[in-house]
Amino acid sequence: MGGRNIVLGVGGGIAAYKAALLLRLFTEAGHTVTVIPTAAATRFVGAPTWEALSGRPVTNDVFDAVDTVNHVRIGHEADLIVVAPATADLLARAATGQADDLLTTTLLMARGPVLFAPAMHTEMWRHAATQANVATLRARGVAVLDPAVGRLTGPDSGPGRLPEPADIFAAAMALLTPGQVGDDGAPEPLHGLLSGRRVVITAGGTREPLDPVRFLGNRSSGKQGVALAAAARMAGASVTLIAAHLDVPVPDGVGVVQVGTAVEMREATLAAAAGADVVIMAAAVADFRPDTVAGGKIKKRDDAADPVITLVRNPDILVDVVGRRTAGSLNQLIVGFAAETGDEHGSVLDYARAKLARKGCDLLVVNAVGPDAAGVEQVFGRDENQVTILARDGADPVPAAGSKTDVAAAVVRLVAARLAAKPA
Ligand code: CTP
Repeated sequence: MGGRNIVLGVGGGIAAYKAALLLRLFTEAGHTVTVIPTAAATRFVGAPTWEALSGRPVTNDVFDAVDTVNHVRIGHEADLIVVAPATADLLARAATGQADDLLTTTLLMARGPVLFAPAMHTEMWRHAATQANVATLRARGVAVLDPAVGRLTGPDSGPGRLPEPADIFAAAMALLTPGQVGDDGAPEPLHGLLSGRRVVITAGGTREPLDPVRFLGNRSSGKQGVALAAAARMAGASVTLIAAHLDVPVPDGVGVVQVGTAVEMREATLAAAAGADVVIMAAAVADFRPDTVAGGKIKKRDDAADPVITLVRNPDILVDVVGRRTAGSLNQLIVGFAAETGDEHGSVLDYARAKLARKGCDLLVVNAVGPDAAGVEQVFGRDENQVTILARDGADPVPAAGSKTDVAAAVVRLVAARLAAKPA
């Protein structure tokens, strides 16, 4: 990635000194950083420190450099604005669109992604006013990290610590590199593509119990679904993740409903899908479940025959979500996933087209699964993915490859383009 223009807004909290470490991470990565401290921040770390570390002039006054209309220029030129530490006061001022200093006016001029890294006492973070401000900002597509948990300034501890500079740096870089490259070779952020949209995503693999300790499961890690949740969140959507046995952590700012079986996943998904703009079904759902679940652990017995497991069909959640759509929100966009293998009767895409017609979803993200010619597993548990996205309306198939994050960004982009093209 080439050097980008980053604005580092610094709020008036004791954690302001950690922003100096963050600044170093940005400059060492080749970015140009303009620091805008609030007046309160300069009482913790003074302007000369920021000037020396950034190599650029520092001000927090809208009346400095009036000839170049500073706040307009800085806001327009910024590829990314990071506010760290974001105090309760700064979150409130940003949420209500105030413009009473250079940082808040710059935030109003921003056209690229914005990231807030809050730091404050636990009570202030948990206060309904702060939480409402955070929700407002997130609904607008602004990324707000959750504060870290640990020792605070005084003897108290709890959520409220500024996340580590390395974590803020990683979140900031993710906003700049969601996996797509524009015509000029620079990454195109997902920022704002799904602002105000409600997105439901299923992820992971269901487990169908045989007895209290055993289950029928599958090899899904949930990585692709979690990457989709992160991408949709980054694009400004309000995201609900219906999660079955994930191997990976859930991204910040995503609502989670934990489920175990296909039947539980169906119930949670139908409830969440009501009123959602987009439903993406990335979970590997067991097609069958044992017809009975033993109350105690099934034991080996020499005086009886070995047990036989009888399977019954699970509901098809995707088909049910599509069925509910025709009864209600006709504009809902529904995306299925298909894990396919080809054989002598048809290719991966032949089977996928038939599945798309059968399931009735709008888009189908098709994966070739199983070992490749060299015997190496292609999808499950791996970080890389290669897919083809088919559309029911016959639009050209869209290929996407790269990390699961790259594939998620491609899906979010296509979903956003289709939503924008649909009648309201
Ligand atoms: N799916 C679902 N409910 C099921 C099975 C699958 O909602 N009981 C969804 C998956 O989440 C995925 C899509 O349907 O989005 C296709 O999953 P896949 O396993 O490829 O399809 P199946 O219907 O199971 O078809 P088959 O196993 O016969 O290929």
